[in-house]
Amino acid sequence: MPPLTHLAIIMDGNGRWAKARGLDRSAGHKAGTETAREIVRECRKLGIPYLTLYTFSKENWSRPKQEVGFLFNLLREFLSAELPSLLEQSIRLNVLGEMDELPMATRQVLRHAVDKTAGCTGMNLNLALNYSGRLEILRACQAVLRKGVRPSDLTEDVFAAELYTAGMPDPDIIIRTSGELRLSNYLLFQSAYSELYFTDVAWPDFHGPELQTALADYAARQRRFGTTGEQTA
Ligand code: IPE
Ligand code: IPE
Ligand code: MG
Repeated sequence: MPPLTHLAIIMDGNGRWAKARGLDRSAGHKAGTETAREIVRECRKLGIPYLTLYTFSKENWSRPKQEVGFLFNLLREFLSAELPSLLEQSIRLNVLGEMDELPMATRQVLRHAVDKTAGCTGMNLNLALNYSGRLEILRACQAVLRKGVRPSDLTEDVFAAELYTAGMPDPDIIIRTSGELRLSNYLLFQSAYSELYFTDVAWPDFHGPELQTALADYAARQRRFGTTGEQTA
C-alpha cells in the first residue's frame, strides 16, 4: 500500500444533486457541508495527516451573486458551528487561496478558526478558498522575483516554499466526485504525481463507504514516479 499523507478532494456535484431532487442549488450546498463534516471526521479517524477540500474556486465568483452569497454564509455558519469539534479532534485549519478578497465577515470567522486551531496536531485541514492553481503559481513567481532569488538558485523546493502549501507534502490522491474528468485549476503544481480518482457519486452522497472504496482503489495503485517500478537491489 503506497503511503497516504495527503488526500485532496474536489467536492463537486452539489447543484446537480439538488436539481435531481427538484430542490434549489442551495439545498445541494447545504447537504454538501454535511458530507464535508462527515468526511473530515472519517479522515481524522483514519489518521490521514493532510486533507484538502476544494471549497470555492476563483472562477466560482462568476456564479450568480445570490449563490455566491449563500455559499459564503454557509461557510461562516459551518465554521462557527464546527470550531469546537475541530478543537476537540485537534484539527488544524488552514486556508489555501486569496483570503483578502473574501467577504469581511467570512474572513473574520476564518482567521479566528485558523488562530484557535494553530496548535492542533491531530490533522491538517486545508480549505482551498478563492483558490486558483494558476494564480498560486503566478504569486509564487512574484514572490521569488521580489526576493531577488537568482535564476540559478531557483529550485523546485525554493519555488514550492512560496506556494500556499509551503511545507506540506504533495497530494497523494485527488478525488473528484460527480463525474467530471478534470482538475478545474486545482493544485496544478502539487498534483504532478498525484493519483487521480473519479466517481460519478455526487458530493452530498459521498459517505464513509464511498471514501473507503476510493482509498482501496488508491491502495492497489503502483506509484512509479518515472521509474520502472521494479525493486532495485
Ligand atoms: C460544488 O458543487 C460546490 C462548488 C463548486 C462551490 P457545484 O455547485 O459545482 O455543483 P454542480 O457541479 O453544479 O452540480
Ligand atoms: C470545482 O468545481 C470547484 C469546487 C469544487 C469548489 P466547479 O464545479 O467549479 O468546476 P467546473 O466549473 O465544473 O470545472
Ligand atoms: Mg460543479
